[in-house]
Amino acid sequence: MSIELQDLELLTAVRDFTFAHPHPMVSTFKPGMRNWGDEWRAVEPQHLPAAEHVESGLRHARALTRPLLQTFAAHRHRLRWEQSYRAGDGLVSEAMLEDYAFADIIGLHGPFVSDRIRSGILVFGPGIDYPSHHHAAEEIYILLAGNADFELHGEAPARRRAGDVVYVDPNRPHALATRKKALVIFYLWQGGDLRQKSDFD
Ligand SMILES: [Fe+2]
Repeated sequence: MSIELQDLELLTAVRDFTFAHPHPMVSTFKPGMRNWGDEWRAVEPQHLPAAEHVESGLRHARALTRPLLQTFAAHRHRLRWEQSYRAGDGLVSEAMLEDYAFADIIGLHGPFVSDRIRSGILVFGPGIDYPSHHHAAEEIYILLAGNADFELHGEAPARRRAGDVVYVDPNRPHALATRKKALVIFYLWQGGDLRQKSDFD
């Protein structure tokens, strides 16, 4: 089966953004992004309300992050939006479950199938607390729109804004809290189980 052109547009946007990014830690993800694999799989779209924050985030986007955000906004109804947590599992608040979502572009479940790298988009509405959690993969968050207070274990919480890069070492506990604005993140994972459900601290 040949890759759908629209998915190819998404992959190209994600790769171009990563390859052009000047941050040294982002560079460590470039080999995985370059050689992610060779299997494409059609993914059934699934919508979640938080996905609409991608569109509203565009209003405040900066030059560096606007093209990728624009591509995600244009494709948001084709993506498979998911959540890692469920009501009743006691891990995150009901408020977070109502207003957060992620969609993989590259990863174990596709659409671009990879056991080497995971990359996609993660969205939170305003006023959401994502409690401290950790996972074996190393992770980079690149903020595309909005802002949030990030807390990496051992460091004081710090406000991060659109354009900022947050690097999280393997197994390092991390938390974030959005304030008045929605937060749109481009994420990269490598190493460890690429679909690991986080452990909470
Ligand atoms: Fe994480």
